[in-house]
Amino acid sequence: MSKPSSFVQPIPNSNAQTNRLTTINSHLRNLPKIVVTRDLGPEASALIQPKDSFEIIQWSENRACGRDWILKNVPGAVALVVTVVDKVDAGILDAAGSNLKIVSTMSVGYEHLDVQAILSRGIRIGYTPEVLTDAVADICVMLALMAGRNVRETMHIVDDGKWPSFGWAPFLFCGPQLGASPVSPRRTAGFIGFGRIAQATLSRLIPFGITDCIYSKSSGSKPDLDRDEALRKTMGLQSLRCVDLDELARESDAVFILAPGGAPTYHVVNEEFLRKMKKTAILVNGARGSLVDSDALAKALREKWIWGAGVDVVEGEPHITPDHPLVRERSCAVLPHIASATTETRVGMATLAIENMMAVLTGKPIPKELVI
Ligand code: DGY
Repeated sequence: MSKPSSFVQPIPNSNAQTNRLTTINSHLRNLPKIVVTRDLGPEASALIQPKDSFEIIQWSENRACGRDWILKNVPGAVALVVTVVDKVDAGILDAAGSNLKIVSTMSVGYEHLDVQAILSRGIRIGYTPEVLTDAVADICVMLALMAGRNVRETMHIVDDGKWPSFGWAPFLFCGPQLGASPVSPRRTAGFIGFGRIAQATLSRLIPFGITDCIYSKSSGSKPDLDRDEALRKTMGLQSLRCVDLDELARESDAVFILAPGGAPTYHVVNEEFLRKMKKTAILVNGARGSLVDSDALAKALREKWIWGAGVDVVEGEPHITPDHPLVRERSCAVLPHIASATTETRVGMATLAIENMMAVLTGKPIPKELVI
């Protein structure tokens, strides 16, 4: 597979063309209108059939269309297809009006949607779980290795031409091993959130030598003990248990944040949590930036309360500049929200987003519907 030309295409700064759009079939003005806030690629677009039964309005640039564009184009729409960067709230729904049948998001996360406002108007929600599980779990393991094995710091040494001054030495650049070893025969992975992506990450960690798993659930929900025991046996773990956050912080060698964002999990990893973690432990965030207090994490890394961190998401993204506290900490590997970014996965997500939409428009069951 060759790299598409858009591989590293930056997002243009200019706001000069905020009204640009592709009206795929502008002559079909009186037909049901579909508004799509990104070009979702040929595979997904081909699923909107028959083309001459819909007016399709699609933003054509490789950057967010912005709220004004949605407000301008959504009135009268029957379907709105969005991505994680498009906020859908009461204002957008009011502008859309009573024709709107579905909001379909090309994402598993839905913090950008006002779910209550959408559902209370009788509008359905489509989302894209499962298709991205493997891609995200892969990146979580990579971030764990990067955090533990000092990858960002040591790559900087090479990039900055400093390797010749270090050479090789028995204990130079050493970090904690991810899995068990004769020195540490048990290694525990802790998960904040224990859904599909967390379990896929855990199954990848076992060949690395993780022996034990603990996880925390949202307060009030009970663990499924039979499921946990079955999972423990299948995965060949020494133990697998649901614990409170306090124990999770204290006992984990690697903490993985894989819970939904939003108010209930806001800054769940804060100074109090980080101070309880082991000095050799690492933290990985593959969920949403809002779960981590960035200033507290930067302080924890600077003052060496924990070993390192790997984050694919940061609160306030994409406005994360080199002077951001986490980017300044070389023991923190920071990625620009790429966990699901394999071509295969993104095609799968885009395709599912359109399939969800088409199901509603043609009166069929939605393949993946968000039901709260
Ligand atoms: C999602 O689907 O919610 C991801 O964060 C996008 O990569």
